[in-house]
Amino acid sequence: MSGLEAAGGSVLGAAGEEEARDTAALLEGVLPRELRPLFDASFVRSHFLYEQFVHRLVLQVVRETGLEDALRDEGSTEDIALRAKLAAAPALVPLDWILRSLAARGLLAEPAGQGRGRYRALGPLPVLDPGAVREEQLRSAPTWMASYVLAETVARDYPAFLRGEVAGEDVLFSAKRLRLWIDYFSNDNGLYAVNNRVGAIAADAWLPPSGGIILELGGGLGSGALALLERLETAGRLGEIAGYRFTEFVPAFLRRGEQAVQTRYPALSALSAATLDMNRPFAEQGVERGSVALVYAVNTLHVAQDLEFTLGEIFQALAPGGRLVVSECVRPRPRQPIEAEFVFNLTETFRSPRLHPLYRPSGGFLTPEQWRGAMEAAGFVETRFLPDIPSLRDKAPRFVVAAVGATRPGG
Ligand SMILES: C[S@@+](CC[C@H](N)C(=O)[O-])C[C@H]1O[C@@H](n2cnc3c(N)ncnc32)[C@H](O)[C@@H]1O
Repeated sequence: MSGLEAAGGSVLGAAGEEEARDTAALLEGVLPRELRPLFDASFVRSHFLYEQFVHRLVLQVVRETGLEDALRDEGSTEDIALRAKLAAAPALVPLDWILRSLAARGLLAEPAGQGRGRYRALGPLPVLDPGAVREEQLRSAPTWMASYVLAETVARDYPAFLRGEVAGEDVLFSAKRLRLWIDYFSNDNGLYAVNNRVGAIAADAWLPPSGGIILELGGGLGSGALALLERLETAGRLGEIAGYRFTEFVPAFLRRGEQAVQTRYPALSALSAATLDMNRPFAEQGVERGSVALVYAVNTLHVAQDLEFTLGEIFQALAPGGRLVVSECVRPRPRQPIEAEFVFNLTETFRSPRLHPLYRPSGGFLTPEQWRGAMEAAGFVETRFLPDIPSLRDKAPRFVVAAVGATRPGG
């Protein structure tokens, strides 16, 4: 803990607070008007706090796994994993993320330069209390707590996961952890809600004017669907929806998601719900070719086992002129660590999809160029971003939320 923190000052420090204010002012000037209320000064400050919280959890994990000793001499991620006796297969991607995060904060040297993935500690790593950040967040914007609880819960099991003693899927998805996800994938979660709101704004803007059938993939617990339906309701467009096909892979999520949407929209006769695995042919799962006006997904496509396959299935499901809209955590630059990956790197589907040299060089979140490359390789045209991360990322390098849209040509 710094002296300032001990004296009750901000955990971001004066410089961090100023940077948060400057970033909020900048976003107010450069974001499209309809996005500005989502990314106001309170959001930016909470985002900075959350990054600081995850950083402190990472430092804790590094101490608990003996990685600090393993970092005294220069080594590749593999060398460092071996020295710290970590389990190579599941640990390498999360460990590489941890090392890139520490390097990005100036705590590790990357001696080979140019992101070659060799690291060495520049000195003793700081000991910082995550609890102080949590308390500050609780005081200033308690709606973010679900994200804190999830990260903190995961951090407790991280050393065992890195050592190969427990599977990441068991850490994240054991039955006792369902509550965490109900609270996390929610429009009451200040961090997560922006994904749903940005996606809803984009889907409203890019839904073909004639409306039609919407197919949602990975609809989970329903927060994305609710945000979209609320947006369309406000715009007076609910009547344009010929069908809302809410789909999800995990049955326990599907049931709850369907229930949440039905409870909020009891009169929406167009609603149907079904299991759909985006890694299997859609036609086998009841989605007719050329039948859909909009395929919609919030933070789902980046876990497709084979993005090329899934985008091909989406393309076939769409009618000519139909639109794909995904709301995603977008990586501004290759290899840039994003704090949500601390949690999601635990799952194999997140870290190890089928790779493609141009648009899927690694697992996890994609850059704008990778999204464009993947969508255009599948035959889509008019790929677009809301907000336009390529023109935003120099000014706001920590802005990582965007909707990506593309069109099936024809129609
Ligand atoms: C980030 S969550 C989406 C959360 C959702 N928007 C909500 O409000 O709860 C991603 C979703 O993708 C789902 N998913 C994972 N693998 C899938 C697959 N193979 N096919 C379809 N959905 C999948 C997960 O179960 C999860 O619900």
